[in-house]
Amino acid sequence: MITIRNLEKVFSSNRGPVWAVKGLDLVVEEGQFVVLLGPSGCGKTTTLRCVAGLERPDRGSIEIAGRFVDSTEEGVYVPPERRNIGMVFQSYAVWPHLSVYDNVVLPLTEGRQRAPKNQVRDRALEALTLVRLQDLESRPVTDLSGGQQQRVALARAIVTRPKVLLMDEPLSNLDARLRDQMRFELKKITKSVGVTTLYVTHDQSEALSLGDRICVMSDGKILQDAPPQEIYASPANRFVAEFVGEMNFVPSKVVGPGEADSPFGRVRCSVPPTCQNGSEIILAVRPEHLGLSRQPHQSCPSVQGRIVHVNYVGDSTFFEVEVSGVPLRIKQPGAPGFSVGEPATVLLSPDAWHVYH
Ligand SMILES: Nc1ncnc2c1ncn2[C@@H]1O[C@H](COP(=O)(O)OP(=O)(O)OP(=O)(O)O)[C@@H](O)[C@H]1O
Ligand SMILES: [Mg+2]
Repeated sequence: MITIRNLEKVFSSNRGPVWAVKGLDLVVEEGQFVVLLGPSGCGKTTTLRCVAGLERPDRGSIEIAGRFVDSTEEGVYVPPERRNIGMVFQSYAVWPHLSVYDNVVLPLTEGRQRAPKNQVRDRALEALTLVRLQDLESRPVTDLSGGQQQRVALARAIVTRPKVLLMDEPLSNLDARLRDQMRFELKKITKSVGVTTLYVTHDQSEALSLGDRICVMSDGKILQDAPPQEIYASPANRFVAEFVGEMNFVPSKVVGPGEADSPFGRVRCSVPPTCQNGSEIILAVRPEHLGLSRQPHQSCPSVQGRIVHVNYVGDSTFFEVEVSGVPLRIKQPGAPGFSVGEPATVLLSPDAWHVYH
């Protein structure tokens, strides 16, 4: 539904040219929900604005629904209002002097996507029902909460039944609780409408819960493009490992096949065949993949450590455990079974380690 090829965008600034997007390729299949995830300044918004037609690419092409909307080679550029897209931004961008209904109906009565007069009311109500605002249609939009205003913006974006929905950090102005709730609803709504969605966020937990696929971006490029489970379970490189979820990193050295020398001794791990003996690597492990015990287990390699910090968060506890001068973050289900200062055995399952150059 969306095909981006070799997209490049350079801005000129008073400090010289800024390469916002550097040869980005991306395909979003029909009905998919794809998230662009990355730190501030990595080029997420610029990519989305190019798809919307709000920025002109310096190179590359963009296809929406089988039609080129941008191609620098062919000299094609289709303006935003002819791209058949809906957009939702961080700021709700609702018209403050209009009612809920009038905000939502606007794209159907003005502009290019106008609907036949006899369909306008039904379609507006359909969109309002989808976002569960049908009972508030006559309210001034400014009487609504942030979450409700964002739902008005969403209803307005889908009322024209666009093929593609583009969203840029739409939940980041909401408080934490509402954000979680809206995440759930957003996914439900986009799936029930079947609209193809490209969604921008810097929030990794939002990306994990929303995306059919996540594209982790850094410095104008996509570093990994995979389903959320794969991004979390097998981060392609150290950047992705650090950006998505929590990870402990331990500088080590390869000493043999399946073995590395770490600050706390030999660690069994799967060393890729490309790593020669003596090469420096980073061992990485998620907090929930390290075990904590009173004594060593026969079946699992372990090291001795000391509890330096305990953080109980309800359903689980985070520990900081010092092992040979290295602080390791460990997550265990349930209430803390150790207190600060106690010795503890850290279980190092060989399967738990990721290895990075
Ligand atoms: N109009 C512009 N003029 C000059 N530089 C720009 C312009 N828009 C974006 N940039 C630069 O391009 C780079 C990418 O910006 P972009 O807004 O795409 O990042 P982002 O990933 O959306 O970040 P954030 O999470 O902070 O919104 C940044 O270095 C930014 O400063
Ligand atoms: Mg942005």
